[in-house]
Amino acid sequence: MSVYRKANGGERLSDVAFERIKRDIVSAALQPGIEVTEAELARRYKLGKAPVRAALLRLCQEEWVRAIPRKGYLIAPVTVRDVQAIFQLRQLLEPTAVRLAAGHVDGEHLKRLNALCTAHPGSRKAHVAALLRANRLFHVTVARTCANDRLAGILEKLHDQLERLFHLGLSSWSMGEELPFGHDALIGALLAGDGEAAARISAAEIETGRKIVMNAILSYPGPMQVHFGGGMRWESITLREFAEEVAQIVMAGKGMEAPVRVAEKMPRLLANPNLLTAEQVASATNAYRQYLLYRHPDGWFSILALVREAGHSSPIHDHTCWGVVGVYQGEEREQRYLLAGGTDGQYGLIPSGVTHHRRGDVSYFDPNSPNIHSVDNPSRETAISIHVYGADIRELGGSIRKCYSLDGQTVPEAHP
Ligand SMILES: [Fe+2]
Repeated sequence: MSVYRKANGGERLSDVAFERIKRDIVSAALQPGIEVTEAELARRYKLGKAPVRAALLRLCQEEWVRAIPRKGYLIAPVTVRDVQAIFQLRQLLEPTAVRLAAGHVDGEHLKRLNALCTAHPGSRKAHVAALLRANRLFHVTVARTCANDRLAGILEKLHDQLERLFHLGLSSWSMGEELPFGHDALIGALLAGDGEAAARISAAEIETGRKIVMNAILSYPGPMQVHFGGGMRWESITLREFAEEVAQIVMAGKGMEAPVRVAEKMPRLLANPNLLTAEQVASATNAYRQYLLYRHPDGWFSILALVREAGHSSPIHDHTCWGVVGVYQGEEREQRYLLAGGTDGQYGLIPSGVTHHRRGDVSYFDPNSPNIHSVDNPSRETAISIHVYGADIRELGGSIRKCYSLDGQTVPEAHP
């Protein structure tokens, strides 16, 4: 099929393929980090391989996908660094754009768009997705008024990325909360021709948006997948190199962001085939063993290997400190819980989700967010996971804050 054959409205089929695939990446229907092939996408969109190939080439250039030689394509993963870079760029560029646009906007048009940008408590996801599109259009429309096409073009691309971040954060937002996408104050300043006020309001809106996305990432109920699935080929590092990187992160005092930053580093440690000694990976009669691989000299953090035989399950527990867990071998299944009640020592546990963590998957938890979970090995193979805890495990004796049982009684069982 020719790439240049026209679709219904006279568009080239490669353009149709590009728009459809990009729309699905932005809306997270195609999840970050998954692998796809030309043939799969051609079937999915009912298009020929040639237009899909041309679309993928363009998507690679725009960094929505990456080519994996001889395998296919990877939907670009999202990292915390991406989130920070996108908001940093917005802060640099967008206040300038609104300053230039002040006094030149079509107020009625902006008000109509703004009316579509407000979600109400209890809104369904489809409604929130529509308001995210309207929010993007509002910002792009303002940017196009600034009479600098290049600046408007860059902001348009940034808002595509931003819409994707908001879609990815949707699952961790409480749909009962109103999402702050209204722009009344900004429209007022733009109509009044007050460029300085518009720039100030824009900067404040961007900071609010940054906090929403970061909070969505940091307060995900239970450990959150940082790198979504496999497909990446990481250059490996040694335990010592990794420990030095973790020490730098902890020393920089990143607070709640420390586990996310450590999690971003871990895939390269997991890619090291010589990380563990023969003794540390050996099968044992015990169902569960742990090895302290590294302890920071001042006790800032500890790195452990946990070997879990087939079928072993941990008690339900939570942690006193932040932690990052990466699967080095095999598979771990994590059941997360939310705590209900809590008076007079009684409580109830509500199952809140199950995640299968496979080789290369990394998750993290923070003691300030709910992190009650149990972990088991559902496979027939021994599972090995690497854990970083933000505490001196040797000193503490473990990272467990408390163990729980489903009948509401605290279980006095130790577990790392
Ligand atoms: Fe745990």
